Amino acid sequence: MAIHLLPNRWILETRNSGYAFGLNDAGLLAHSYWGQRLAYASDYPAPPSPAMWAAFNGPAHLTPEEYPGYGGTKYIEPCLKVTFADGVRDVVLKFIAAEAAGQDDMQLQVHLEDEHYPLRVTLHYRAHEAYDLIERWVSIQNKGHEPVTLERVWSAQWHLPYGDHYWLTHLTGRWLDEMHLRHEPLVQGVKVLESRRLTTSHHHSPWFAVDDGTADEDQGAVWYGTLAWSGNWKTAAEVTDFMSTRVNIGINDFDFAWTLKAGETFVTPASFGGYTSAGFGAASRALHDFIRERILPNGDRPRKILYNSWEATYFDVDEPSQIQLAQIAAQMGVELFVMDDGWFHRRNLDNAGLGDWWPDAAKFPHGLKPLIEAVNRLGMDFGLWIEPEMVNPDSELYRLHPDWVIHFPTRARTEARGQLILNLARREVQDYLIAQLDRLLTENAISFIKWDMNRNVSEPGWADAPGDPRELWVRYVYGLYHVWETLRQRHPHVIWQSCSGGGGRADLGILRLADQIWVSDNTYSTSRLSIQEGFSSIFPANTMEAWVTDADPQIGSPESLRFRFHVSMCGALGIGGHLIRWSEAERAEAASLIAQYKTIRHVVQSGDLYRLRSAQKHALSALQYVSKDRSESVVFCFRTMMPQPAQLPRLYLRGLEPAACYQDAATGETRSGSAWMHVGLELTLGNFDSQIIHLRRTEN
Ligand code: GLA
Repeated sequence: MAIHLLPNRWILETRNSGYAFGLNDAGLLAHSYWGQRLAYASDYPAPPSPAMWAAFNGPAHLTPEEYPGYGGTKYIEPCLKVTFADGVRDVVLKFIAAEAAGQDDMQLQVHLEDEHYPLRVTLHYRAHEAYDLIERWVSIQNKGHEPVTLERVWSAQWHLPYGDHYWLTHLTGRWLDEMHLRHEPLVQGVKVLESRRLTTSHHHSPWFAVDDGTADEDQGAVWYGTLAWSGNWKTAAEVTDFMSTRVNIGINDFDFAWTLKAGETFVTPASFGGYTSAGFGAASRALHDFIRERILPNGDRPRKILYNSWEATYFDVDEPSQIQLAQIAAQMGVELFVMDDGWFHRRNLDNAGLGDWWPDAAKFPHGLKPLIEAVNRLGMDFGLWIEPEMVNPDSELYRLHPDWVIHFPTRARTEARGQLILNLARREVQDYLIAQLDRLLTENAISFIKWDMNRNVSEPGWADAPGDPRELWVRYVYGLYHVWETLRQRHPHVIWQSCSGGGGRADLGILRLADQIWVSDNTYSTSRLSIQEGFSSIFPANTMEAWVTDADPQIGSPESLRFRFHVSMCGALGIGGHLIRWSEAERAEAASLIAQYKTIRHVVQSGDLYRLRSAQKHALSALQYVSKDRSESVVFCFRTMMPQPAQLPRLYLRGLEPAACYQDAATGETRSGSAWMHVGLELTLGNFDSQIIHLRRTEN
């Protein structure tokens, strides 16, 4: 049983973890435990009832509340801040009732209500037993007749065991340079990470991991969490002056307000929190499994090897050039041909056309059909790039509806990449996009869509908003989800990619709609090694779209085609180079690497990931995938620049059956799993050299 209900105490258990809270003596809903699963329900500590410490720090401040509202003498970060119709800005939540429901994924609901105002706050919990994850979200219901203004409504406050010094691991980055892992001590005060950009952003990810500074990839207690939301978000990790550590996560309250009218309910996005005693590796494997099996719409479907024409033809697309690329791609074994930007009405550069989603008559006089049929005849599926949320001022759409963009009437509309953002909070914008894109997908045999978003917000105004214009931040995301969801339902065979100038929109919210993510516009393989590693903290390899592109002669990229392929083969392999310029020898080598990828794809895309040596820390890096039944494993090793003479450390594998025998497919060498793991491997790699080792279990 995943949920225990004791009198006024609740315990959620997963396979290895336990989470407990209850009503304390003061009637506050207090957190009491998150960690290793305990033997008996009676083992879980009672909710704490801290005593008064001083006039300045009373019990309300000292209690680790599950979901504190702003009010009274709580000076910590609250999860909920409201203003009632009469101007009162103080929430006093009282416990009303709790109930559990469901079978496999048991759900617990705890109802609280303000003691004076008819505002109901329901805390929802779901224990995902097999993944050691607790899901939390909150619904706020206005049961009265007057509106209530919500100014902050976070999804969860996650409490760490009291009184220790913790370290926070998180991701930072920027365009072309996403997903750097940072590991820093948490000290008294609040560490805030957030997006104010309307979307998830390249800069930080709504993900955290906390440990006591001693955990590593393979061992140690790690508490971690994430948020399924693709708009403005915030994490606020607070250490109080009484050494209580908690991480808040939710929709960003910066510039946020929501008018909750009589009878309405606001539901927050879900936050998922996990505990493991087995280090950062186990934490990400749990998230990978969960994302593949519970979040992704087609998590078990192998990702096709795609070719994308962007870096070859840029905006200069037409039927002959695309067919020429498609012919070469097909010969190399590519399965999906994707035409990128430049195909639609008057789109010759980035300064025109966005919004007009029909084929350009000069480039495609007979529409897209002839190209699609040619691609299909070559044995490949056809995919297309779109950027639905955007409009160029130089477009038919903007000329008709200049008021559809996000803007303030008294301010200049700041363009970025020559474009403005359509206000997807507006119903007519949603309807326009659904109609245009539905037609495109209905009239053409399109199997794959790359959904891009190439700028962030400015002047976030919504002049004729039906409610508070600051609802834009959330209603835009609802609108985006609605458009995408509607198209998915109408065209269920289509596979979708989330791109925002690379990894600007990577989160568990978008992965309910998108099958894979374009990780970065930076396709240099050495940069990719570390970007992909950061990405793997959260996301599984089948969502990690990775293209092989041309080495850049300007920066004298020393990586061979093989090295570049090996880096991309760590995820969902794609190719983005200018194939027409590839020599016969390069095309033949690419064909054999693609063939090799087809033999390991199932292990990479659905296996367990072990990061053996970090690419963000070391010039010699390695990662390993192990199939779920442990019958196969694929090891990737990369050496970038190391001064000579270089002494390469031995590489110790992980995750194999100790007593089973595994054979190296290339050399025939057979050893037990324990020997591969504990004797390890000696590598002989030169600078910018790489190696794949494919092990298969044999009869002992
Ligand atoms: C963004 C994407 C690229 C490409 C271009 C097209 O930058 O990240 O992959 O699609 O847009 O304009």
